[in-house]
Amino acid sequence: MNVIEIRKSTRNFKKIRLATDVIEKINSYINEPHNLTGPYDTLFNFEILIENDFKEKEKIGTYGFIKNAAGFIIGSCANESRTIFEFGFALEGLVLYLTELQIGTCWLGGTFKRQEVMSTLEIPDGNIIPAIIAIGYPEQNEHFRSWAQRKLLSSDHRKPEDTLYFYETFEQPLTNKGEIYKKALAYMRLAPSAKNKQPWRIVVSSDLSQVHFYIASALADNKAYACEPEYIDIGIAYKHFKIGIDTLGFTGKLKAEEPTIQNPKDYIYITTWSRD
Ligand SMILES: Cc1cc2nc3c(=O)[nH]c(=O)nc-3n(C[C@H](O)[C@H](O)[C@H](O)COP(=O)(O)O)c2cc1C
Repeated sequence: MNVIEIRKSTRNFKKIRLATDVIEKINSYINEPHNLTGPYDTLFNFEILIENDFKEKEKIGTYGFIKNAAGFIIGSCANESRTIFEFGFALEGLVLYLTELQIGTCWLGGTFKRQEVMSTLEIPDGNIIPAIIAIGYPEQNEHFRSWAQRKLLSSDHRKPEDTLYFYETFEQPLTNKGEIYKKALAYMRLAPSAKNKQPWRIVVSSDLSQVHFYIASALADNKAYACEPEYIDIGIAYKHFKIGIDTLGFTGKLKAEEPTIQNPKDYIYITTWSRD
C-alpha cells in the first residue's frame, strides 16, 4: 500500500520529542536538493523547527488547533502562483516521507501565527510562507477538538470523481475512459487540501495523451492565508498524480500551454502533463 493511502491530517500528538534518528532522517531528506525541487525546477529550502519542551505556549502558535506538535517544517517562496504550485508539490513529498516514517503531519495554511514563524526564519525579501507542517507522533485517541474539526471539514470524504475528472471538455465526465490513469487519479483524489475543498479539476484529451489541470476557486474567505491556497492544493494534488503516473510506468512532461477548452468562468487553467 502506498503511503498516500495511509496519510491523513494529525492534529493531536503525543507529548513525545522526535527521536534523534528521525530528526537525522528528516535532515538528510531536506539536505537532498532532488527532494526540494518543484516540477519546474525551483529549489526550495525547508527547515525543521523542534519543540523541545511541551509548554502551554508552543513556539509556533496554532490557535489551539494543534495539540503537542513535536515540531514544524517551515519554508518560504516567492509570491507567484506557479512557485506556490511548486511549493505544494515539494513540501507534500516531505509530508509523504514523514508518513513513511510513521510521523503524523498536518498542513497549516491558516491556523498558525505567521509572525512567529517569520521571526524564526530568514526570509528573502518578497517571499511568503504559504503554509507550514505540524509534525509529531500521532495520539491514538483523537482529541475531541480534532475529531470535531475532521467532522466539520468532512475530512474523510472526497468529492465524487465525475465532478473532478472530465474527458475532452468540461461537459463530459471522464468515467472509465480514463482507466489507464486510474491509480494516478485515485491518488490525486486523496490529496489534502485547505478546508478539504478539493479545488482540483482535470480534463483528459480525447487521445488520452494529455492531462490538463485547473483549479476551481473554492475558498471565498481566505484572509487567514498568505496566498490563494488553491495553488498549494493543486501542487499537492499534482504530486500525488505524479507518484501514481510513475507507479504506472508512464513518462511525460509538464508544460503550461492552455488548451482551447471552454472552462467554467471561475476555473483557472494551471498546467498540462503530456505523455511521451
Ligand atoms: C494548503 C493547506 C492548508 C491547510 N490549512 C489548515 C489549517 O490552517 N488548519 C488545519 O487544521 N488544517 C489545515 N489543513 C488540513 C486540511 O483541513 C485537511 O487536509 C483536509 O481536511 C483533508 O483531511 P486529510 O488531510 O485528513 O485528508 C490544510 C491543508 C492544506 C492542503
